[in-house]
Amino acid sequence: MADSPELHRGATWVLIGLAVVTFVVLRRIDAPYGRHQRASWGPTMPARLGWIVMETPAVLVFAGIYFQGQHRFELVPLILLGMWQFHYVQRTYVFPFRMRGEGKTMPIVVCALAFVFQLLNSYINARWISHFGSYGGEWLSDPRLWIGAALFLGGWLINFKADAMLIALRKPGEQGYKIPRGWLYERISCPNYLGEMLVWIGWAVATWSLAGFGFALYTIANIGPRALANHRWYRETFEDYPEQRKAVIPYLL
Ligand SMILES: NC(=O)c1ccc[n+]([C@@H]2O[C@H](COP(=O)([O-])OP(=O)(O)OC[C@H]3O[C@@H](n4cnc5c(N)ncnc54)[C@H](OP(=O)(O)O)[C@@H]3O)[C@@H](O)[C@H]2O)c1
Repeated sequence: MADSPELHRGATWVLIGLAVVTFVVLRRIDAPYGRHQRASWGPTMPARLGWIVMETPAVLVFAGIYFQGQHRFELVPLILLGMWQFHYVQRTYVFPFRMRGEGKTMPIVVCALAFVFQLLNSYINARWISHFGSYGGEWLSDPRLWIGAALFLGGWLINFKADAMLIALRKPGEQGYKIPRGWLYERISCPNYLGEMLVWIGWAVATWSLAGFGFALYTIANIGPRALANHRWYRETFEDYPEQRKAVIPYLL
């Protein structure tokens, strides 16, 4: 690839800058998909297709860039590749078919923005782990790799189970929203977002890199405000919404 460490570092700082901008914007405007979708955001497309399109760069572009790297066949980069693809194959090609709510749409602009974001994010993280980063065999005995991998896996399990519980609230053909109950939902409104944040914090620890930190920061900047918005929405929508529930961090926030 015709890039350089300087270009890669510059792109990573753009990602960090985007995280700051995203946080500021999303504290004022609720991202217009799912329960916060509004007609004023222009033409729409089927939600399932939107998810597949916007997340596909994280699978295919990521793999394409990864396999151009000089370290592509080394063990630690391959473990990191496996972690990334484990998450994103589920998110891109399984999650959209688990969702219920026939006929649901999303604004094309949301899909387009997320698609462009994932191009940038995939370049930054794939290029780092297989080319500009350096993860020799000694990284296998470094606790950062295994603590990060444990956080990643724990977060993934929380995210998967929490999404599954939300999806199961609708019977086939239903479109509306209900109060989720049980497990972590007794403490917080959005355990799926808590799990997602842990996944990318784990990635940042396992890769111990500015690239990984940038994506973890972006994820928190993106779904942190959305967790607050969903929590507010639940409280406004359901009179009997449980008082003690927080938004995303049990007992705290
Ligand atoms: N890394 C990142 O920056 C990032 C960003 C965004 C999302 N994500 C991940 O992508 C996944 C989906 O995100 P999302 O924002 O769409 O999550 P969400 O709003 O919690 O919705 C998840 C699914 O459950 C349904 N649902 C949610 N609450 C429901 C309720 N009370 N009753 C019935 N059905 C309900 C939703 O239907 P509707 O679609 O009809 O609302 C959707 O199909 C999550 O795992 C999230 O962590 C990651």
